[in-house]
Amino acid sequence: MNSPIPSSEITPKQAYLSRRDFIKAAGILAGSMALAACAPDLLNAPASDPAELTTSAKTDELGDPLNSHKDIINYNNYYEFTTDKEGVARLAQNFPTSPWDVEVSGLVKTPRKFGVEDLIKSFPPEERIYRLRCVEAWSMVIPWLGFPLSKLLNLVEPTSAAKYVRFETVFKPAEMPGLKEPWYPWPYQEGLRLDEAMHDLTFLATGLYGGELPAQSGGGIRLVVPWKYGFKSIKAIVKIELTAEQPATMWSAIAPNEYGFYANVNPAVDHPRWSQASERRIGELARRDTLPFNGYAEQVASLYEGMDLAKNY
Ligand code: MTE
Repeated sequence: MNSPIPSSEITPKQAYLSRRDFIKAAGILAGSMALAACAPDLLNAPASDPAELTTSAKTDELGDPLNSHKDIINYNNYYEFTTDKEGVARLAQNFPTSPWDVEVSGLVKTPRKFGVEDLIKSFPPEERIYRLRCVEAWSMVIPWLGFPLSKLLNLVEPTSAAKYVRFETVFKPAEMPGLKEPWYPWPYQEGLRLDEAMHDLTFLATGLYGGELPAQSGGGIRLVVPWKYGFKSIKAIVKIELTAEQPATMWSAIAPNEYGFYANVNPAVDHPRWSQASERRIGELARRDTLPFNGYAEQVASLYEGMDLAKNY
């Protein structure tokens, strides 16, 4: 269960190779959040294919070291497979992530279905080294590959009536055993305000550590919103819809008093059942203080000017 799964076993070899070759050919563009402009380097993390483990930096912009590829792909939250974080990788190992289509519809001028392979060709992968802070108070530092969500939204041209963006995860009960649990209102869905969605930090990931995005990490394509609790970063997206009203989200439907729509990382507002003041970085023993907006306050706090973030949690 703990051994890393070769990428070639997760994605059909043909598709995997073409995606990887493309990433190599395009070169990895260092993202705006990766401060240390180190040369691409192999990390020491054990993995099945060391050739994949390329990244433009060894730390994030706060100097925090990256988590290993092994940690990132073996400790996951993905309830469609299981609630056991260390069991997701095994259950997801045969889940096909390529080809993968995502449909963008709703209040847009040109609704369209996109193939992820085509999106990767249109938007050469950038690397973004982001901290991911789960609402359960653990965290990781992950080098994603992908492109800002705004690039995709600009292609479909939201109309002036569009105020929110709704995201939906694929629903495949035959392949995702967790979907048999009847007490979750599947499919997993999430949402952002349009200005949050258009923010440059808001990212669609199609790879990590210079390679492909394995199924357990949200392949074919997943959202990454680094200043919000990890549950906003919805995996395996098949639908993106622009709406006028604030969309329902799975976690706020289950427990509205515990998981709000905004879910901005906020050490001053505790979860009703635990403190949010500190977190356990996977791979470290001591706890770290949790930072407002997960350390991205300078970039995003202005989005919430005038809002009471204790009420809009
Ligand atoms: N997306 C889907 N579809 N299903 C999930 O269960 N879990 C969320 C988020 N996206 C989840 C999801 C939670 S709670 C977290 S913390 C992150 O994914 C974890 O991402 P990771 O497994 O890549 O670290």
